[in-house]
Amino acid sequence: MRVGVLTGGGDCPGLNAVIRGIVRKGVQEYGYHFTGFKDGWRGPLDGATVRLDIAAVRGILPRGGTVLGSSRTNPLKVTDGVRRIKENLAKHEVDALIAIGGEDTLGVAARMSDEYGVPCVGVPKTIDNDLSATDYTFGFDTAVGIATEAIDRLHTTAESHMRVLVVEVMGRHAGWIALHSGLAGGANVILIPEQRFDVDQVCAWVTSRFKASYAPIVVVAEGAMPQDGDMVLKDGTLDAFGHVRLSGVGEWLAKEIEKRTGKEARTTVLGHVQRGGTPSAFDRWLATRFGLHAIEAVRDGDFGKMVALRGTDIVRVSISEATAKLKTVDPALYAEAGVFFG
Ligand code: F6P
Repeated sequence: MRVGVLTGGGDCPGLNAVIRGIVRKGVQEYGYHFTGFKDGWRGPLDGATVRLDIAAVRGILPRGGTVLGSSRTNPLKVTDGVRRIKENLAKHEVDALIAIGGEDTLGVAARMSDEYGVPCVGVPKTIDNDLSATDYTFGFDTAVGIATEAIDRLHTTAESHMRVLVVEVMGRHAGWIALHSGLAGGANVILIPEQRFDVDQVCAWVTSRFKASYAPIVVVAEGAMPQDGDMVLKDGTLDAFGHVRLSGVGEWLAKEIEKRTGKEARTTVLGHVQRGGTPSAFDRWLATRFGLHAIEAVRDGDFGKMVALRGTDIVRVSISEATAKLKTVDPALYAEAGVFFG
């Protein structure tokens, strides 16, 4: 048996731990051979491969990024994409494919498996934690840790100058990183994409914080939007991949706060720092277990399935069902954090 492995979409701490788990168990327990495909779905599309054996996965557990490379290539949007992939899999004698990725990469895996008969198993990945069907995705814990450390540091500089510090964190569609890091870091305002915010209310919280002689920290997810929707988008509305880009919200909000409260405000955009570097212990643990269970699914011939965390168990769910709907922050969960605002 030869198994192909690919990593698609944005990189995420823990990808290498998944790859290592797959290869170690596949070689040692099942005697399988592996072919790494380069740069997501571009690899099987172009027949671009990387050697993937025990030696290739030695020492990669704590390394960020992905040794296979990644891209957002969607072969279903390429003329003859499915035929080219099938030909390349046959050429490299690959019997099954493990796709590690977010909703786009896994969405392709679901269709490849269900509609085109390419045997695929999926592993969910995203720092945003917005994939339904799994309690957590690896990469999220690392991102929250990085954002929390940044918020801790920003408290002291905010207080030294008695300024407002606005911290923009990742999360285009879901506010999980903002909510978790905001609570862990003791933010005074947390803004998420799931609920449009009222700028005057934010200013009222900021003012009350100053009245208590503290400097406020505002955590805003990159996808958060003001109620009146009057935000000017920095990069236009859509990027090259068709994603809505809202990277200007932190800066925009700091300016509004300055204008409306008369207090000095600064913005820190954490950006890709949240995705880089070594995974946390939790993410290494989760990613490794996902890898072990993904190769087990291949051995069982259980294709069209994705591994997922439920409590402390790893289960298998249908990829197409898992990618059908994003997991967003529940309003009740967000309301819980409200006690700390202001
Ligand atoms: O999907 C994860 C994510 O980190 C989002 O939160 C963010 O908007 C996006 O990726 C940015 O990705 P890139 O800059 O690679 O397009």
